[in-house]
Amino acid sequence: MAYNNRNRSLLSLLHHTDRDLHYLLDLARDLKRAKYSGAVRNSLAGKNIALIFEKTSTRTRCAFEVAAHDEGAHVTYIDPTSSQIGHKESMKDTARVLGRMYDAIEYRGAGQEIVEELAEHAGVPVFNGLTDELHPTQMLADVLTMTEHCPKPLQDIAYAFVGDGRNNMANALLLVGAKLGMDVRIGAPRQLWPSDEHLATCKAFAAASGARITITDDPKEAVEGVDFIHTDVWVSMGEPLETWGERIDLLLPFQVNAALMAAASNPRVKFMHCLPAFHNSETAVGARVAAQYPFLSNGIEVTDDVFEGPANIAFEQAENRMHTIKAVLVAALS
Ligand code: CP
Ligand code: NVA
Repeated sequence: MAYNNRNRSLLSLLHHTDRDLHYLLDLARDLKRAKYSGAVRNSLAGKNIALIFEKTSTRTRCAFEVAAHDEGAHVTYIDPTSSQIGHKESMKDTARVLGRMYDAIEYRGAGQEIVEELAEHAGVPVFNGLTDELHPTQMLADVLTMTEHCPKPLQDIAYAFVGDGRNNMANALLLVGAKLGMDVRIGAPRQLWPSDEHLATCKAFAAASGARITITDDPKEAVEGVDFIHTDVWVSMGEPLETWGERIDLLLPFQVNAALMAAASNPRVKFMHCLPAFHNSETAVGARVAAQYPFLSNGIEVTDDVFEGPANIAFEQAENRMHTIKAVLVAALS
């Protein structure tokens, strides 16, 4: 085959072709079926994978751990505080140590350049489990989930991301749709649009793939006719808490509520969210925001009625993190 994901890092998706992505998605479907049918697999027996999390996680960590265990591999979880990374040891040195012990490394942290540096010096595949700029493993799950919930050919599927249009999720959704030839819309206030550089990169991929890209500050225009509406938290990990006030002012018109879902003019439109979501005030952050902004007590970026309603497929999306991450591991290491 022209493409071969063996020993391949997954850092950004920038260097993955559409064929590479389809290969990983097909493998994820096979691995999902195998798991559902109870087939015992052991394709990563004897492999060791380091999981570095400099930011907190539920889904990504658990997806890597379960995927590895299902295939017979062992993992070491390195939490945000207990290693030497950063305060006593550089990423370059860490890479050269871990690369001698492990067959692959997952990394979640701040700048994209950190995961790139890790990959440059580790000598083993490195997987980006989220940076400030991108969330590539999430994209495989999101595309798999969209294909499972829409009978259209992939290139006919339209989706919108509404919210902070230059966070890791927005950047990554724009990129993956541009690569795969999909109809991608970003609905965000101008202050939170993707960077000119990222947009130019995605437009170049779109020119080759046939993707349609729309960036708009009109939330209704963003979602008109789409099959899926995605959103994400308005303040991401690593951003200061004081950001909440200005983000709420900017993003309130982009809240996913019943009116915005209706603006898709598609009775089958589905709601997607990488999670965790602030859809009520039952979390510490949700409660703090609701105390100051009572009109957000039934949800911040998404209202509780949408989140608890039949259009929400975010939990299928969450499950698919595991099947798709398993595909990345199996493709790279088995
Ligand atoms: N979607 C996602 O990455 O979730 P976690 O932060 O829980 O890993
Ligand atoms: N944009 C969010 C995504 C969490 C999975 C964050 O970075 O916090």
